[in-house]
Amino acid sequence: MNNMNNDDINNSNLNTLLDTEIVQHNNVNNIDSVDIVCGLAWGDEAKGKIVSQLLVTKKYDWVCRWSGGSNAGHTIYINGEKYVTHIIPAGVFYGIPSLIGPDCYVNLQDLDEEMEYLYKNGFNIDLIKVSNQVQIITSNHKEEDAKKYQKQQGSTGKGIVPCAKDKYGRTGIRLSEYLINNPIKTKFFNPFKHTWCDVDDNDFTKDKLYGNILCEGAQGFWLDINQGSYPYVTSSVTLPYSVCSLGFPPQKIRHIYGAAKIYDTRVGEDPFFPDEMNKNQILNQIGEVGKEFGATTGRGRKVWWLNINKLCDAINISGCTHIIISKTDILDIVKAYNLHINNSVIQFESLDDLKSHIVNCLQNNCSLLQKIIFSDSPETVEGL
Ligand code: IMP
Ligand code: MG
Repeated sequence: MNNMNNDDINNSNLNTLLDTEIVQHNNVNNIDSVDIVCGLAWGDEAKGKIVSQLLVTKKYDWVCRWSGGSNAGHTIYINGEKYVTHIIPAGVFYGIPSLIGPDCYVNLQDLDEEMEYLYKNGFNIDLIKVSNQVQIITSNHKEEDAKKYQKQQGSTGKGIVPCAKDKYGRTGIRLSEYLINNPIKTKFFNPFKHTWCDVDDNDFTKDKLYGNILCEGAQGFWLDINQGSYPYVTSSVTLPYSVCSLGFPPQKIRHIYGAAKIYDTRVGEDPFFPDEMNKNQILNQIGEVGKEFGATTGRGRKVWWLNINKLCDAINISGCTHIIISKTDILDIVKAYNLHINNSVIQFESLDDLKSHIVNCLQNNCSLLQKIIFSDSPETVEGL
């Protein structure tokens, strides 16, 4: 028997026991701030442009995707050239490390194609990191999506729903497990370079987020699995609170930039979204002039007047500090300035009238908002 009394504990042992500093997995103290860009509608609100502008004007050490998969389509202009990405965060266009976070769904072939596209256009794909906790979208997932959900719900066919079912059924395959059991058939996705899984001698993850982080949202508020128009939603949390799945506490969040358009659009099945495209020539015109075709699927989007009640809800529940309302120029081309408010459509005389009514509504109903910006350029956001 090991009879130890107090006298056996000498002073130096006691000091060791009282030492409260322990080795930690994460490195929360190294994170200064987190800014977020999120969609406030049904996706396609020009989030890519806002992310791009923030990366030009502010200093970020990391750009991270926190949700979704290749179902997203982010359009970004670099030196006048248009680029479209689906899963890789926009940091890669600006020489900033870019992480695909643990709550994302990834098909390695799709990722590889996107890496090839960026590589061939001269961007540094070594900056891309993929969490080893992402769920792998298999070809079976894609087949099931195409057979069932693409027809029923107008899903993008990227395998998101079946992969999410496996994730929450706890039968999904994470990247770390996939890499152990499968030979890598991809050309550009190199697990040694791109996986977030290097460990040090103590078996702790070496890769860590630090500094100022920009989180790039995918899809939008009304496609959120909890707050959206269920079941006509995607299988992710699109709201900003979910950035914490990247591995930091909510206290680190600084600004939340919400993206919206001055009219609403919807791609995919949704009986809750007004469908007046057959009857209303102006809505069709907005779709044409605004090039409202899916960046991922090429499908035409339904167009409706901006629903200001829904927008206020989305801003308030998301916690937006800033809002950027894009595509104001499109309404000026078709000369129609309508707003959906309290279940009716109100007509305004001019773009200025419409804008000032929107500003009044937002100022009176969204107490967290600090800044309202209108944007009429596909490439930049002035005043951000
Ligand atoms: P899924 O995300 O492919 O399962 O599709 C579910 C629904 O979300 C469908 O109505 C899609 O059209 C829609 N959706 C998914 N991603 C996006 C996006 O990035 N922009 C717009 N709609 C999207
Ligand atoms: Mg899009």
